[in-house]
Amino acid sequence: MIIVNFKTYRQATGEKAQDVAKDCLEASRETGERVIVTPQTSDLLRLEDLDIEMFAQHIDPVNPGSNTGHVLAETVKNTGVSGTLLNHSEKRLEKKELREAVETAKEHGLTTIVCAQGPDECEKLSGFKPDYIAYEPPELIGGDISVSSAKPELIQEAVEKSSVPVLTGAGINTREDVEKSIELGCEGVLVASGVVKAENPREKVKELCKGL
Ligand code: G3P
Repeated sequence: MIIVNFKTYRQATGEKAQDVAKDCLEASRETGERVIVTPQTSDLLRLEDLDIEMFAQHIDPVNPGSNTGHVLAETVKNTGVSGTLLNHSEKRLEKKELREAVETAKEHGLTTIVCAQGPDECEKLSGFKPDYIAYEPPELIGGDISVSSAKPELIQEAVEKSSVPVLTGAGINTREDVEKSIELGCEGVLVASGVVKAENPREKVKELCKGL
C-alpha cells in the first residue's frame, strides 16, 4: 500500500486536496494497488464522495464534550475515514496518550498506524498493538534522500523488532525507493512531498505503485 499524507501542504489543501485525491484514485485504479490518502481534518468532508480510502492524520483520545481543539474519532469516522495515523513526528503524543488513542481508534473501528522514529521505538510502540508501525526517521522527512537509500539496515531492524507489520517513509520519491522498502520487509510506504510537490502527482503515484 501507498499512503499519501497531505500534511498541510498548500498543494493538497481545500480544492487542491480534491485534485490530489482524484489523482491518487486514478493511479490506484490504473495500477490496481491500494492507495490511501490522509487529508487535513478540515478537508475530509470535501472528499467524502470520492471513492478513495481516507485515513485521518491524527485523532485524540477524547470523548464528545469539553475538549476544545481536539480531533474526535467519531467525527472523522463519520466523514468516511477508515483509519488514522498516530504519533507522526510532526504530531507526537505522550506514551499514555498514544496508548489511549490507539484504543479509542480501535473502539471506533479505525485502522491504526503508529509512527516511530527508530527501530527501538518501533519495538516498544508495536506493544500498543496498532495495525501497523511506520518507521520514519525525522531528519529525512521532507528531504531529497530516502529512508530506503540512507537507512536500509534500520528499516530491516525495525521489521525484525516490530511485532506488527511495518511501513516506512521519509524522502520516498521513486519506484526504486518503494521496491527497496518492500524488499526489506515493509508492507508499504508513506509519502508526502514526493507526491504533493510533484509536477504530475498522478504519474508520480503510478510510478510508486509500480514498486509494490
Ligand atoms: O507521513 C509521511 C511523511 O512524514 C514523509 O514525508 O515528505 O518525506 O515524503 P516526505
